Amino acid sequence: MNPNTEQALQPQLSVRDLEVHYGPVKAVKGISFDLMPGRITTLVGANGAGKSTTLLALSGLVKKQATALQFNGRDIRNLKPHQLVASGLVQVAEGRATLTRLTVRENLQLGAYTRKDSAAAQAADLEHIYQLFPRLKERDGGLAGNLSGGEQQMLAIGRALMAKPSVLLLDEPSMGLAPIIVQDIFRTLQSINQTGLTIFLVEQNVRQALKISDYAYVLETGNIVLEGSGRSLLGNDKIQQAYLGG
Ligand SMILES: Nc1ncnc2c1ncn2[C@@H]1O[C@H](COP(=O)(O)OP(=O)(O)OP(=O)(O)O)[C@@H](O)[C@H]1O
Ligand SMILES: [Mg+2]
Repeated sequence: MNPNTEQALQPQLSVRDLEVHYGPVKAVKGISFDLMPGRITTLVGANGAGKSTTLLALSGLVKKQATALQFNGRDIRNLKPHQLVASGLVQVAEGRATLTRLTVRENLQLGAYTRKDSAAAQAADLEHIYQLFPRLKERDGGLAGNLSGGEQQMLAIGRALMAKPSVLLLDEPSMGLAPIIVQDIFRTLQSINQTGLTIFLVEQNVRQALKISDYAYVLETGNIVLEGSGRSLLGNDKIQQAYLGG
């Protein structure tokens, strides 16, 4: 095996035995998973399975235990939320959490709060995001509160991209959006991924999510019960019955 191949097989984020408790409630019960660089990995599962809790743990927003949390070769178990963002692990805020009384541009600029590079570099990235989301560019000086639900979700993604992530975490970006907008969001995630960004997606929209996923894990009451390529899980009988109404 040549050294490049070996490099490509290293996970970018490696999670071992992650546990989260809310008081006496064990929400995540010692799960292990990997995010491979440049891939879309998805965590699917029913209501209350522990999906959001897993993301909150990765973002440093809930107390957790793990035997390992390695991100780009670094132990991130003790990093604070802003340090995780600065290191490149960035969670997209909920669409409705855009700052409605700020303009679209101001929301995007806020995404760069942990960056220490030049204003010029940040302005260039903002232009890049406007190319990705022409609709946001049109609304540049308008209040975020006047955007539609789908546009606010795009803005939330754009704001996360302004932090220059190497891994993007998303918690149900399709929630509450019309099917046609959902398609748009998933297409956007694919095109962001094609620029080399690693994506970790949490979804209840199992069919659509598996379609765009290189790899997926199924979470049930705090445990990973199944994993495989998106394609293999789409064809799996258990998944068909439990999540795809088959
Ligand atoms: N702040 C909290 N305090 C106590 N229990 C919580 C808290 N947040 C979540 N839980 C519980 O932890 C478990 C996992 O919740 P979590 O929100 O992670 O699930 P989820 O898979 O994201 O569900 P959903 O699909 O509804 O978003 C559930 O039993 C939930 O009731
Ligand atoms: Mg959730």
